[in-house]
Amino acid sequence: MDAAHMGADLEKVLITEEEIHARLEELAREVWAEYEGKDLLLVGVLKGAVMVMADLSRALPGTAPVDWMAVSSYGSGTKSSGVVRILKDLDTDITGKHVLIVEDIVDSGLTLSWIKSNLESRSPASVEICTLLRKPEAAKVEIDVRWVGFDIPNEFVVGYGLDYAERYRNLRVVGTLAPHVYA
Ligand code: XMP
Ligand code: MG
Repeated sequence: MDAAHMGADLEKVLITEEEIHARLEELAREVWAEYEGKDLLLVGVLKGAVMVMADLSRALPGTAPVDWMAVSSYGSGTKSSGVVRILKDLDTDITGKHVLIVEDIVDSGLTLSWIKSNLESRSPASVEICTLLRKPEAAKVEIDVRWVGFDIPNEFVVGYGLDYAERYRNLRVVGTLAPHVYA
């Protein structure tokens, strides 16, 4: 399936590649203004945050180490269960470090609030969140997200790291899927 055919599976494009990159450039400048000179660790949540991490980290005007966590939060469907299991933990001891969690999306917020408290229990200097997408209408828990790329409607989205059944992560845009894909 080539890119054009993958595009045919989309119902609509919510955010273009250009919009994503422009916003990440802005966020990178804001993030750097906060952390320059501090012991910053970027923590990506696999697998969805891979694209955001790649582009946000490269847009930073300086360098910072990157580490990854993998958690499972969804059973099988498209709704968060709130039950989180660590599949892959950090390689880094974060004691005394300024941790920035880099995420693709905050939906119910259940997964991220669990990850944030888990990291906070390890005595870091600080833990903040930067997410490309947020669905304000889907929030089930209060969670303080310091940097948000785009607020989007409460619809299931794919692309730019986000998947449906592990596909569409490699789309350059963020969009919703056409009904025939779910059939
Ligand atoms: P919660 O609901 O706990 O979200 O904030 C946890 C994880 O679920 C994934 N997620 C999505 N993945 N399209 C996707 O492809 C979506 O609309 C969507 N909403 C949530 C994502 O990995 C998030 O970190
Ligand atoms: Mg994710």
